[in-house]
Amino acid sequence: MSVETRPQRLSITRLRNRKGGDKLVCLTAYTASVARLLDEEVDLLLVGDSLAMVVYGFDSTLPVTLDMMVAHGAAVVRATGHAVVVVDLPFGSYQASPADAFRAAARVMAETGCNAVKLEGGEEMAETVAFLTKRGIPVMGHVGLTPQSVNELGGYRSRGHEAGERRKILADGVAIAEGGAFSLVIEGVNEGLARELTAAVAVPTIGIGASPACDGQILVTDDMLGLFAEFTPKFVKRYRRLGDDIRAAAHDYANDIRSGRFPAPEHTYAAPAKRTKAAG
Ligand code: KIV
Repeated sequence: MSVETRPQRLSITRLRNRKGGDKLVCLTAYTASVARLLDEEVDLLLVGDSLAMVVYGFDSTLPVTLDMMVAHGAAVVRATGHAVVVVDLPFGSYQASPADAFRAAARVMAETGCNAVKLEGGEEMAETVAFLTKRGIPVMGHVGLTPQSVNELGGYRSRGHEAGERRKILADGVAIAEGGAFSLVIEGVNEGLARELTAAVAVPTIGIGASPACDGQILVTDDMLGLFAEFTPKFVKRYRRLGDDIRAAAHDYANDIRSGRFPAPEHTYAAPAKRTKAAG
């Protein structure tokens, strides 16, 4: 009997053990086609609720539903075999009680096949993180700038510059890690705070707009590919300008159709040769 040698998906345990070691490479993915392209290059793919803006054109993450997260999460899992896949719990699906959070997270895990869920919040969510992790659901935390709380925070400004807020974010991160999270996203904080929080917790921290002091980094894939030209936050490095390429390709396509250059003979199924009447 031959044993198929497929590359194995990374495990949550291996990721957790990378604390202080090789930097963790993470990106967002929402679709099978993009997830397939990223899978081998990264350690973790996050099906983030940022899909609200990126895929659906909303102006915040608040309108995202559990059905959306399940559909996109399942697509990303089906397309990948290497990276750990984490799916965001959407706003309203987990904040009211640990039992609500368990129901939402269990549905996401069962229907997508993902490895873990992510939820936003600090000390107030620590009990929920413990509730989920004790029941077999790995959790990634998310502290600092938490986009689901945009109305409470009053915008998307970076956080933790003032002593009180800095202390609160530190306490949030420590509470979530001690609750049992296997990793912690730190978003939109300055380098000093990111360094202090990374040193204070035993699990890897993943920064977005949180300096190189974290154990790993994540960006929204569409930002780093330059699919959005309109606004790029300071913390984003654009590795390509695919938005320009897509616009140029659409322009060329339109010109080809209007001028009759497309479809050409090589794109056309030839009509069957006419039958000639057999002689006799
Ligand atoms: O939804 C998302 O894409 C995220 C990242 C910004 C970490 O939460």
